[in-house]
Amino acid sequence: MSLNVDLLKETFNRAKEENGGLKTLGLRFYERLFEKYPQVKHLFHTPPEEQHKKLMASVGATIASLTEPERMVPFLQAMGVRHLKYKTESAHYGAVAENLVAVLGEHLSKEGEWTSDMQTAWEDALKAVSDIMIEAAENPESCKESLLKAGYDADGFRKDTEQPWVLVN
Ligand code: HEM
Repeated sequence: MSLNVDLLKETFNRAKEENGGLKTLGLRFYERLFEKYPQVKHLFHTPPEEQHKKLMASVGATIASLTEPERMVPFLQAMGVRHLKYKTESAHYGAVAENLVAVLGEHLSKEGEWTSDMQTAWEDALKAVSDIMIEAAENPESCKESLLKAGYDADGFRKDTEQPWVLVN
């Protein structure tokens, strides 16, 4: 699947600037997630005030590395494997993707436009991200070499940072 990199970057840059920026977007993400999908709420132990920064940093890192798959893929594989520790199930990814696209649409509609092309660009991107994370989580052994080569441990964490959601190198 070829992703609409320009539109993804443009809309994410707008999200940083408009409607209170990534803080508003990130907090709204968890508010809507827990309203619409209350069955996943018990998995989260970090308060949204902290958690949203990690989510937004990981989305930003992904968008910034879309044209560098050799950096982006191990980053996402590592994140997928780490989610095993958080008791995430493959079936939850659809809810998180739906929620992120919905809140982004809400966010960007406040001060500007949200078009069907933007919606499609983000749905495709979230599908691609989820596929990589799920595949890694379902078969961590298959991506172990890729993780180690990129500086991650086999469990997706890194010894050189306590913030593995930030893309280094
Ligand atoms: C687009 C897919 C996703 C992205 C980009 C994402 C991003 C993140 C990030 C950056 C963290 C911080 C910890 C770390 O990096 O290891 C995290 C933690 C977490 N994520 Fe995700 N995630 C995704 C999908 C999911 C799904 C589908 C679920 C299931 C409901 C989920 C549940 C959690 C939980 C429970 C935590 C730990 C929260 C805590 O510390 O209490 N995530 N996620």
